[in-house]
Amino acid sequence: MTRHFLDVDDLSAQELEVVLDLAEDKPPPVLAGRGVALIFEHPSNRTRNATEMAVVQLGGHPVTISGSEVGLDRREPAEDVARVLAGYHAVICARVARHPTLERMAAAIDRAGQAVPVVNLLSDLAHPCQALADLLTIRQCLGTTRDVTIAYVGDGNNVCRSLTKAAALAGARCRVASPAGHTLSDADLDAVRALGGDLVLTDQPAQAVKGADVVYTDVWTSMGQEEEQQARRDAFAGYTVDRHLLAGAGPDAIVLHCLPAHRGEEIAADVVDGPRSRVWQQATNRMHAARGLLAWLMQDGPR
Ligand code: CP
Ligand code: NVA
Repeated sequence: MTRHFLDVDDLSAQELEVVLDLAEDKPPPVLAGRGVALIFEHPSNRTRNATEMAVVQLGGHPVTISGSEVGLDRREPAEDVARVLAGYHAVICARVARHPTLERMAAAIDRAGQAVPVVNLLSDLAHPCQALADLLTIRQCLGTTRDVTIAYVGDGNNVCRSLTKAAALAGARCRVASPAGHTLSDADLDAVRALGGDLVLTDQPAQAVKGADVVYTDVWTSMGQEEEQQARRDAFAGYTVDRHLLAGAGPDAIVLHCLPAHRGEEIAADVVDGPRSRVWQQATNRMHAARGLLAWLMQDGPR
């Protein structure tokens, strides 16, 4: 059965560790002479550049396709797009507005027996390639992910969902502070706990951050939610990661943000640009993590 990567728990804890190790290894030429399709229904800076360069470093050729160009479910069904691209490419990566689109693409490829992995480059539900880079950054900065306490302050969104699952797999604790109506769901909590995760939800940012080793935030308004922007600014008032909040974290706490950052909203300028910030290292790690994942998917032929 082909291994797809639609969320981070498509990997076991052991596989996740192997992917992170591969991210720091010399790139094997596993994509020599092969293509990788990258479809984007939403804009991207990091994900497109990081994944394209990871493909190049593995000897392959990336082909980036905009959502409007390929027209998933508009010009032709997502299933047909996937089956056609699987005839040209070793891996199909996609950033989609709705997560089920990825599931349908993977299922169509499986039904056709094409053995081409589908990789989630962000959906409304999950951002697993980001979570790989997040863990890699924590491992590099703190020496381990085990028993690390991660405080996430903000929206219980795609980034938060994948981060909490990744943390569970990697032995890190998570405390998530979100306002009512924007928290992770009970199903998310169950999923993290089923992975053995230690996850606490609160509506008090100071409680989440207290003594934490990592303080993480993301935008209050994700792509596709632009019409809710003002309502979200109101709902998230008091959830800015600023120097007062950060003062309650552990003495060596680092600050992460998947970026793009909105200075003065979810994060203060002097925090994202300050001495505890590791966001540029984290952004560069998107490339190393993507390379580790693709190398793992292609090792010994497609999985
Ligand atoms: N963090 C991240 O996914 O950034 P982009 O949206 O720029 O790809
Ligand atoms: N939660 C954000 C992440 C951007 C990388 C979004 O979905 O827009």
